[in-house]
Parts: sequence; C-alpha cells; structure tokens
Amino acid sequence: MPLNRCKICQDPYEEILSFGKMPLGNGFLNENQIPNEYFFEMGVGFCERSMMFQLTNQPSPEQMFHGEYAFFTGSSEGMKNHFHQFSEKIINNLPATDQETFVVEIGSNDGTMLQNFSNRGIKCMGVEPSENVAKEAINNGIKTKISFFNEKVAEEIQDENGFASVIYAANVMCHIPNINSIFKGISILLDKNGVFYFEDPYLGDVINKNSFDQIYDEHVFLFSLHSVQFVASMNGLDLINAEPLTTHGGSMRYTLCHKGRFSVSENTNKLIQKEKRLGLNRLNTFKSFERNIKRIKEQLLDLLLDLKNKGKLVSGYGATSKSTTILNYCGIDHSLISWISDTTPTKQGKLTPGTHIPVVPYSKFKEDTPNYAVLFAWNHADEIMQKEKEFSRNGGRWITFFPEIKVI
Ligand code: TYD
Repeated sequence: MPLNRCKICQDPYEEILSFGKMPLGNGFLNENQIPNEYFFEMGVGFCERSMMFQLTNQPSPEQMFHGEYAFFTGSSEGMKNHFHQFSEKIINNLPATDQETFVVEIGSNDGTMLQNFSNRGIKCMGVEPSENVAKEAINNGIKTKISFFNEKVAEEIQDENGFASVIYAANVMCHIPNINSIFKGISILLDKNGVFYFEDPYLGDVINKNSFDQIYDEHVFLFSLHSVQFVASMNGLDLINAEPLTTHGGSMRYTLCHKGRFSVSENTNKLIQKEKRLGLNRLNTFKSFERNIKRIKEQLLDLLLDLKNKGKLVSGYGATSKSTTILNYCGIDHSLISWISDTTPTKQGKLTPGTHIPVVPYSKFKEDTPNYAVLFAWNHADEIMQKEKEFSRNGGRWITFFPEIKVI
C-alpha cells in the first residue's frame, strides 16, 4: 500500500477504508461522454497526530471546480435562507476593527451570501475559482476574484482593500487539499480583531449516522473540532467557538481568530469532550464505521434485488453528489433503480456518474409514480416528506439508508 502523508502535518498514515474506483460526485454526463469518463481510486485515512479524516487520493481541484461547475447556491431556497440568517448574525456581531468593515467570502459561488452584505451597504468581495458561477455573482454586482484562495491572493486582496473584518467560507474548506495555504492566507488577510467563520459537513454526524455518502472527491476532509483546532493552531489561529448545524445532513460552524485574541467559548470545550466520548480523536472508531458501511451496502443491495425480483418500480429521489458514492460503492445501476428524479435543470437528461442511471425531471415522479423511492437527498428529508405526503398516502414507500436501511 502506498505511503500516505497527512495533508496537514505530513505524518504518515494508513488508509482505513477503500471505496474502489469512483467517478466525480458531480460528474453527471451524457451518453457520448461515457468512454472518456474519469475515475480515481477513492480511499480515506485518519492521521493520529492531526486527527484529520481525509481522502488518500483525489482528482486535482481544477478537475472539480471549473467553468461548468453544476452547483449554484441561489438555486436552493433553503440555503438562501440559511445564508441570509447567518449574514444577520454576522452583521449583529461585527468585530471592532480599525478600518471600514470588510467581508470576504472564500468560495463565494454565485454571490448569494455576499448579496446580503452588499444590500446593507457593507464592503465585501468574493473569491471563486469556478468561472460560470463567479460570473453570475459579478453580473449581480458582487465584486469577485475568479481564483483559488491562497497566501498570494490573500496578500493581493489585503493590498488593494485592507484587512478583512470577517472572512467566511461555507462548504469550501473541506474541498481544498492544500488547506495550510488557505489558513496561512486567512491569517494574512484577517484584521487583528477579525473573525473567520467556516462551516462544513461534520465528522461527528457522519460517524453517528454512518452517512458515508459525505465521502466523495470534493470532500477531501471531514472536520472535527479536534482537527480544526490542530490545523488552526499550526497557522497562528485559535478555534474559539463551534455551533452544530442541520445543513448538509449535519454540519459544524467554526469561529476562529488570531491566536490569543479572544477566549474559547464554554460550548467549544463541551463539544471537544463530546468528540472524545465519540472517539473522533482515535483511529479505532473508524474500524466500526467500516463494518457499518459494509452492512449498509449488503442490506441495500439485498433489498433492491428483492424488489426487482418482485417486479416493483424503484426510483431515486434527488441526484445528489453524495449518491455517487452510494451507487458506485454498492454497484447499483439502472437495473436496480430505473431513474432518479431531480429538480435541477442542468442534471436532467444526463446520467449519474459511473452508474449511468438516467436523471429525469421531477414531473416523471408525479406521472410515473414508483412503488419505492430511494431518498438520496436525505439531507432535505423534512422538506421532501412534507411535499410528498400524497406519495405515501397512495401507498408509495420511501427507502432510507442511514443510520440503517429503512422502508417507510
Ligand atoms: P444537495 O443537497 O446539494 O446535495 P449534494 O451536495 O450531495 O449534491 O442536493 C440535493 C439535490 O436534490 C439537488 O440536485 C436537488 C435535488 N432535490 C430535488 O430534486 N427535490 C427536492 O425537493 C429537493 C429538496 C432537492
């Protein structure tokens, strides 16, 4: 087995779980693209020193975040509300900085979050490498640098605009292999009294729920308070607060500042203790995670094969990036799931990465109602169950898979 080096501290670590060949989580494709479809060997490991749960191998960021990146934040009402509420919280707690308030978002996507600051007349700017989504922000009047964020970009922004009072990143930090460079950039750009907030899917939720679908090419890291504390400290920053969130099936929002500027919240210490009880700082924890994942794979396949043999129509609900891991790891193709409905126009008419199940418009779910629907967009379960009461009333059954397989 090749030697892996921790992306944070460079210590060697072993792979703990191998998923085999995986395509890009967001690599929805047309039939004529199948011969050139991209695959990589996906595995994860845990470094006992940095306590970072990480992919052993992943495609280059350029392969994932490019001119045709499929995700627009503004297309989800739920996420728009989420960002609006948090922007209000940020504005009500702006740090006392010497200069004019300046908010920077890393991975600003289509500018949905920054629009909240711009609307309030607060100076702000975004940094976004995917050109198509960045252009959408620029068209909406949000100053955006089309680039990956790193130390050099941080220096350029600081030279041109001064220090940032607030830096923010949502579902971005976990995507970036060279994360030390991001943290270094943040400590360059952040005002001495400034705060850096970031939120990402939380390792604690993944372990509690067995939600291994959070592991795909774009999620290079799954953070915990332990690992964030380690990487922050290496780069002159302190973790001073953490707040659990329900987004993306369970996330954590971290607050950081320059070392020694502000005190660590009571809540942070409590969550650190909770992580110790859950074993997020220990390699052994991930051995039982592996057993759980294998069990889910076997049970899901057994169920789908049984339904196929009984002649039932089984569809999927929500062509998520996450489902790419489940479908490929379990080897589920269109012989087991006929189609997956999704409301995103850019995914409709395409095939799922690797397993080539047709993605169809939502109208198909209404017109050709399946007997069973696998809830791939489980992170939106409340909203979907609410919307689809008629499906259940008419005898339709949901299949969910975390923390165990359930037919509802
Ligand atoms: P998302 O939550 O962004 O997950 P991921 O990051 O794993 O892709 O994706 C949710 C997907 O589900 C998105 O493609 C839209 C789709 N969706 C529906 O088709 N119907 C719905 O009611 C909801 C809430 C989502």
